[in-house]
Amino acid sequence: MPYIDLRSDTVTKPTDEMIEAIVRAHKEDRFGDDVSGEDEIVNELQEKAARILGKEAALLVTSGTQGNVISLLAQTNRGDEVVVEEMSHTFLFEGGAMSSLGGLFPKPVKGVRGYIKPEALLSAISADDAHYAKTAMVVIENTHNYAGGIIITPEKVNNLVTTAHENGLKVHVDGARLFNAAVGLQIPPKDLVKNVDSVQICLSKGLSAPVGSIIAGTEEFIYKSHRFRKKLGGGMRQAGIIAAPGIIAIEKMVDRLKEDHENTQYLYERLSQVKGLEIEKPDTNILFIEYGDFKINAEKMAQELKKRGILVYGEYGTRTRFVCHRMISRDDVTTAADAVIEILTSHTQ
Ligand SMILES: Cc1ncc(COP(=O)(O)O)c(C=O)c1O
Repeated sequence: MPYIDLRSDTVTKPTDEMIEAIVRAHKEDRFGDDVSGEDEIVNELQEKAARILGKEAALLVTSGTQGNVISLLAQTNRGDEVVVEEMSHTFLFEGGAMSSLGGLFPKPVKGVRGYIKPEALLSAISADDAHYAKTAMVVIENTHNYAGGIIITPEKVNNLVTTAHENGLKVHVDGARLFNAAVGLQIPPKDLVKNVDSVQICLSKGLSAPVGSIIAGTEEFIYKSHRFRKKLGGGMRQAGIIAAPGIIAIEKMVDRLKEDHENTQYLYERLSQVKGLEIEKPDTNILFIEYGDFKINAEKMAQELKKRGILVYGEYGTRTRFVCHRMISRDDVTTAADAVIEILTSHTQ
């Protein structure tokens, strides 16, 4: 029996339509050498993604991490400082790439449910003094994974962007799950990145493409990013094989994210019945529970769930994360909720 895999939306597999799109592009002879800009499918994906994100241009990159790193490197100078939320992916989970590859100095700031308030940004900006690194950029993660798939609304984004721009900082959005935010708010994705300088979106999470991310911004930003992508080993050849599923991802897989949000909401409704469990109403497809006084931790919960055919990560200490995605049905969520409740019942004080 296959596992009910609630570890991440990265486990989604390509759809039949994605594989068919690859085959069709091959039959129509549309693949080419993308390093020379000759892959028609990559070009089509980049044009469509730029339009959807309301930006001048876009670039296919290998992963979310590569897209974030390129975006930072292309808009800063070595030794600059980048303001990041203290639990953000760019700060915690990208192998220190901005420092090791870009000589950048991350300045972590505590957010409120993942959001760096403008006043927090202001106090994080270093004085224009030779003692300090030059604060050059701020990163917004939307949705914010570690905060629980929290949506940063356009109003909040714009407030932060205004403060950043007034102080000469660029703004990058790590929009690995930007489409979840857009679907959650029922607005076009471009409304979430209107005034930001760059954005990265993942094709390979809830949108189900097997590989790839897109970065978007001005023509000049993409021109610079192209060079950094090459330096980082991201110059791909017949990359249309990746881009064909990517086109399906951005055109056909967005609306169904609503289903993942509804399943997450249902999981919340079931688990919020458990007295003593700390749990916040989810915005999108991610739900964290915190164990409070229960005699269990994330590692033990992961082990117990695995025995019952359910997968979650065990590395969140006193919290467990559940992520709903295309390969999780309402029945799967019911099974998972029953199992979590049963395990918690046998781990009370
Ligand atoms: C918020 C966020 N940003 C960036 C990434 C990086 O994406 P990738 O795994 O494609 O490098 C992830 C991956 O889980 C993520 O959750």
